[in-house]
Amino acid sequence: MTLVANSRQAEAWNGPVGAHWATHQARYDAMLAGVNEALFGAAAVAPGDRVLDVGCGAGATTRIAARLAAPGHAVGVDISAPLLERARASTAAEGVANAAYECADAQVHPFPAGAYDVVVSRGGVMFFEDHAAAFRNLARALRPGGRLAFVCPQPPGPHSPEARTLALFARLVDEEPGAEAVAARTAMASLSDPDRLREVLAGYEEVRVEPVTVEAVWGRDVPDAVEFLLSRYPGRPLPAGRLAELEAALRPYATDSGVRMRAGVWLVTAVRP
Ligand SMILES: C[S@@+](CC[C@H](N)C(=O)[O-])C[C@H]1O[C@@H](n2cnc3c(N)ncnc32)[C@H](O)[C@@H]1O
Repeated sequence: MTLVANSRQAEAWNGPVGAHWATHQARYDAMLAGVNEALFGAAAVAPGDRVLDVGCGAGATTRIAARLAAPGHAVGVDISAPLLERARASTAAEGVANAAYECADAQVHPFPAGAYDVVVSRGGVMFFEDHAAAFRNLARALRPGGRLAFVCPQPPGPHSPEARTLALFARLVDEEPGAEAVAARTAMASLSDPDRLREVLAGYEEVRVEPVTVEAVWGRDVPDAVEFLLSRYPGRPLPAGRLAELEAALRPYATDSGVRMRAGVWLVTAVRP
């Protein structure tokens, strides 16, 4: 990787955070799969398109884009070497020949100008230090008339029973969050205000920000979901006696097809002039 503007994020996603996502790739993909229909419905990738997937992680959405774009192609860009290693392995295993990956900081990477018809991202655009600069760089990569479609989280907070459950979990495990945890949450929420979204997309036309509610699968069953949630806080064991409290909080969401909690995201679309 040559140019890096977001060195803290590069450290996190090539360190413990990236390692967690790489280890739990299947879980994260199951958790985020509910977003795919809305994202690709809006992106309207057509056969022959050239697609850029920003912050592609382990590449689940890059492979979807590549299949929709054939005989075109999809390129996943990400700052995390361990996640791209997973992406390349899954792409080879699934025999997707028209998907490729680049390890780069999407805020500053010199993408070939006008090389893409569509830019997509499933939660990979919140981590830039300078969002406006990053979206300008992505606009440069799009051809005139090219489309941008991404999802990012709505504001965190106790707006729904599900959000309250997750907040309870974070409180129990992480009573004094370290600087890294605070930075991760701040980045995750950096685009949760629609006015801020419109501001950083000032160079685009037809900007739309729509709320979408999705079901995120947190585990096969309650113990599995608790184990996954705990794994996100390494070195911070659950205080004694609190396990039952957590299991009880998650039980209302247990279904035959996993522990499912609703989550609010913004579906954002725009066009490069
Ligand atoms: C929340 S994860 C989402 C991953 C993937 N889109 C998915 O849905 O599974 C965010 C991703 O953005 C990547 N990322 C963060 N900052 C980046 C940057 N400046 N340039 C490229 N990728 C970045 C991270 O490495 C990580 O893979």
